[in-house]
Amino acid sequence: MKRVLSGIQPSGRLTLGNYIGAMKNFVKLQDLHQCYFMVADLHAITVPQQPETLRDLSEANAALFIAAGIDPAKSNVFLQSAVPQHAELGWLLTTLTTMGELERMTQFKEKSNGKESIGAGLFVYPSLMAADILVYNADLVPVGEDQKQHLELTRDLAGRFNHRYGECFTLPEPYIPEVGARVMSLDDASKKMSKSSSVAASFIALLDPPDVIRKKISRATTDSGAEVRYDEATKPEISNLMSIYSQCSGSSLEDIRLKYEGQMYGGFKKDLAEVIVNTLEPLQKRYYEIRESGEIQDILAQGARNAHEVASRTLDDVKQRMGFLPSKH
Ligand code: TYM
Repeated sequence: MKRVLSGIQPSGRLTLGNYIGAMKNFVKLQDLHQCYFMVADLHAITVPQQPETLRDLSEANAALFIAAGIDPAKSNVFLQSAVPQHAELGWLLTTLTTMGELERMTQFKEKSNGKESIGAGLFVYPSLMAADILVYNADLVPVGEDQKQHLELTRDLAGRFNHRYGECFTLPEPYIPEVGARVMSLDDASKKMSKSSSVAASFIALLDPPDVIRKKISRATTDSGAEVRYDEATKPEISNLMSIYSQCSGSSLEDIRLKYEGQMYGGFKKDLAEVIVNTLEPLQKRYYEIRESGEIQDILAQGARNAHEVASRTLDDVKQRMGFLPSKH
């Protein structure tokens, strides 16, 4: 049995991109491995957040994990901020990270681009992410394509620590879906679908009501052709919609192409909207039941207790290796 860790920032309401790129695999992996899934609230504050909004989104997104099929009896679901070892190991790893490595991170470049004042937290974000993973000695990290570079840095930091202080950390592998690793915006297929976007028409939120989903899909940008065919280079918009269709229905890209051969985009888009609605309706029903029941607090508390047990053992070992005196409480 392997260890699995992943996290999602409560920087907005979860989208179909998060579901397809990451959460579907969380659900799949929990039947095979020991899983830790966290709401990455410490990462969310690397850009300004309203306290009330952060609280609300943290709880809502944790409930969405469960609604999407993460079973608290199999997986540990918790808030990153509830396990202080993340922040502490994050600092220790920051001291092993170079400015050059952090400057090369494309996510940092994108998020800081054009900003006059850039928070230091945004810069050291990847060292904290490395700590999230290494504190559990995770073997597998289910993520979308955009996190691959952060995973490579995590592996480099683990290797650097092991080289300096002796074998301590497992080098984690990314676990990225073959189709849907990068779900694009509905209004611009050159941009990633993002939960923190200010343009609501660019994403499908997991809690969007059916009519909103239908409207967003019918208005999604497409090329002026009429062929439902997967070709990222020349047909990025249709290719994106086909990936979403494939991931929500289980049909292969080739099956979808054959099904819509000789048809215009209208019928394909109409069916796609229904495929998404059918995927999200049961999830939404479960979400409202979970919120109503108030059970999320207990799930998060239990998850944090289990996570703390593993994380504190790793951190004790790390500190001892680095030369810190044992602290007595
Ligand atoms: P975040 O919150 O941006 O996204 C959460 C997960 O969803 C995936 N994802 C997507 N996949 C496909 N298409 C998209 N448009 C799309 N948008 C998002 C992301 O790849 C990610 O897997 N740094 C992380 C959070 C984090 C983390 C960690 C992840 C903190 N610590 C430790 C793994 C392990 C982030 O910002 O994800």
